[in-house]
Amino acid sequence: MLRKQKLQEADFTRPGTEDVWEDVITDRFLIRMLARFVTPYWKQLLLTFLLLLGVSAMSLSLPYLIKQAIDGPITEAVTSGAENPDLSGLIPYGIAYFLAVATLFGLRFSHTYLLQTVGQNALADLRQTLFQHILRQDMAFFNKTPVGQLVARLSNDIDALTELLSTSIVMVVSNSITLVGIIVVMFAINWRLALIALSVMPFMVSATIYFRRRIRRASNRFHRIVAEYLAYINEQFNGMLVVQLFGRQEASRAEFERINRQYRDVHMKIRDYYTVYASILQILTSVGLGIVLYGGGQGVLAQWATIGTLIAFIDYMRRSFEPILQLSEQVAQIQTALSAGERIARMLRIEPQIVDPPQPKHITDLQRSVTFEHVTFSYEPGHPVLRDINLHIPAGQHVAIVGATGAGKTSLAGLLTRFYDVDEGRVLIDGVDIRELPLAELRQYVSVVPQNPYCFNGTIADNLRLFDPSVTYEQMVEAARVAAADKFIERLPGGYDFMLLPGGANLSQGQRQLLALARALIHSPRSILVLDEATSNIDTETEELIQEGLARVLRGRTSLIIAHRLSTVRDADRILVMQRGQIVEDGTHETLLRANGLYARLYRRQFAQLRLDERYNTSEVSQATEGTAQRREV
Ligand code: UTP
Ligand code: MG
Repeated sequence: MLRKQKLQEADFTRPGTEDVWEDVITDRFLIRMLARFVTPYWKQLLLTFLLLLGVSAMSLSLPYLIKQAIDGPITEAVTSGAENPDLSGLIPYGIAYFLAVATLFGLRFSHTYLLQTVGQNALADLRQTLFQHILRQDMAFFNKTPVGQLVARLSNDIDALTELLSTSIVMVVSNSITLVGIIVVMFAINWRLALIALSVMPFMVSATIYFRRRIRRASNRFHRIVAEYLAYINEQFNGMLVVQLFGRQEASRAEFERINRQYRDVHMKIRDYYTVYASILQILTSVGLGIVLYGGGQGVLAQWATIGTLIAFIDYMRRSFEPILQLSEQVAQIQTALSAGERIARMLRIEPQIVDPPQPKHITDLQRSVTFEHVTFSYEPGHPVLRDINLHIPAGQHVAIVGATGAGKTSLAGLLTRFYDVDEGRVLIDGVDIRELPLAELRQYVSVVPQNPYCFNGTIADNLRLFDPSVTYEQMVEAARVAAADKFIERLPGGYDFMLLPGGANLSQGQRQLLALARALIHSPRSILVLDEATSNIDTETEELIQEGLARVLRGRTSLIIAHRLSTVRDADRILVMQRGQIVEDGTHETLLRANGLYARLYRRQFAQLRLDERYNTSEVSQATEGTAQRREV
C-alpha cells in the first residue's frame, strides 16, 4: 500500500497534489525548453550539421569510386586482351579512395567531438538550472516530492536527454540524410536497378512500423518499472531501521524480487523485439541483395547495367540497411528521452508559492517584536492546524510554547520563517507583514533550531560554520560553549575536525541538537530565536548548562522555546499553552498554576511523575522542594 502510494507520487498523481503537479506539457513547451538550452550553442550546431552533410557525402562517394574503377580501368584492362594489362589507371582511383576515407575520418571525428561538446554543455546548463530551480522551492514542495524523484530527475532523466541530444537526434538526421542520399545516388546511377533494389523497401517499412509500436509500448513500461524500482529501493534503504527492527527483510526481499523480475522481463522483451526485428531486416536485405544480383546480372547481360554498377549497388544496399535499423532504435530512445524531458519540463514549471515580494519592505531598526493576527493555517485545505491565532510578543520577551503532540507548535514556529504562508490573517515582525520582507532578510531575523536537525557530510566545524570560511574559529568555539556543545565535541576524536557520517549518524540525537543550536547562534547572532524541542533529547545536566548559556545569549533577544519538559519553561517570561491549533492559555508559570487550567494539570502530572521517580531513585525525596525537583527532572 505504502509503496503504491510512492509509485503514484513518482507519476505525479498522488491525490491532493494534482493542482501542483497535474500539468500537461505540450510538445511546444517541451521543444521550447530544449531549445532554450541548445540555442546558446547554435553556431556549433550549425557546424555539426554541415560536417554531417560532409560525412554522408563522403561515405556515399566510396561505392561510387569503386564502381568507376571497375567500369573504367579494370574493365578496360580485362577487355583489352593484352598479356600484361596496364592497371596504372587505377592509381588515381586508389588515391581518391584513400583521400575520401581520410576525409571521412576527419569529418566524423570533428562532428562527434563538436556534438558531444555541445550536448554535454547544454545538459550541464540544464542540470544546473534544474538544481537551482529545486533550491528555490518551498517546504510544501519538498514535503510532497519524494527525494528519490528529485534524484531521478537530476540523474536518469537528464541522462536520457543526453542520449537524445548527443546521439539520437543526430543519428536520425544523419541516417535520414544517408538513406535519402543512397536512394538518390542509386537512381542517378541506374534507375532500373534502383527500382529493383527498392522492391524490398515496403516490407522493411512495414516491419519497422510493426516493431516500433511494440518497442515503444515496452519501453514506456520499462520506464514505469524503473521508477517503481528506484522508489522502492529508496524507501527500503531509508526505512532500513524499521525493516530490520520488525524483521521485514523477507517481505522486502520478496517484493524486490517481484520488481526485479518485472525489470528483467520487460528488458528482455525489448531485446527480443530488437533481435527479431533486426533478423527480419537482415533477411529482407539478403533477399534484396539476391534480387539485385539476379536483376543486375540480367541487366549486365542485356547491357543496361555494368559490373561496377552491380558491385556499387551491393555496397549501397548494405549501407542502407544500417540506417534503417538504427533509425528504429533511435525512435524508441527518442521516445524515452522525450518523456524524461517532459518530466523535467514539468518540474521546471513548478513555481514556488513562497517567494520574495515584488516590492519588498525593509526593517530599518530591528526591534524583534512578533505579532500573529487572526492567523489560520492548514497543510491540507479544509483541515486547519492553527485556528485564529492572536498573539503579540513584545521585543525581547522569552516565550515558551507547550502543548500536546500535534497541537501545532512546530507549525506555528514554521510560519514565522515563511516555510509556509498563512491561509488567513497576518504574521508581523516589528509591525511589518513578513510576506513583505525579502525571504533572505526574514530568515536572518528569525532562526529556528528544528526538532530533527540535519547534519551535513563533513566535520563538526564544517557543520557549525555551514562551510562558510568567514566564520572564525573563535566564533565557532564560543557558540559551541554557549550551546554547551563544547564538552562533547572536545571528547570526540579530532574534536572540531571529527568527521560526521551522512546525516550525522555517528552523533546522538541530543548531540545533533546541541550542534544545531550552536549553528544557529553562529549564523544569526541577533535574530529572534526559535528552539523547537531543541533540548528534548538532552540530559538534565547539559540542559542546565544550555539554560545558563542561553540566558546570557538571549538577554534582550526575542525567543520562542517549544518544550515538552516543563522544567525548561518555568523561567520564561510567558508561557503559551496550545491545544488543537489554538492558544488556550497564556501567562506566567505562577499565573497559569493559579488559574488551575491545562498547564496546571500538565505541570502537576509531570511533577507527580517526577516525585514517583525520585522516590525510587533517591532517599531525599521528602525534602525535595518544587524548585530543586524541577531541576532534577529526567
Ligand atoms: P505540528 O508539527 O505543528 O505539531 O503539527 P507539534 O505541536 O509540533 O507536535 P509535536 O509536539 O512536535 O509532536 C500539527 C498538525 O499538523 C499536521 C499534523 O498532523 C498535526 O496534526 N501536519 C504537520 C501536517 O499535516 N503536515 C505537516 O507537514 C506537518
Ligand atoms: Mg513539533
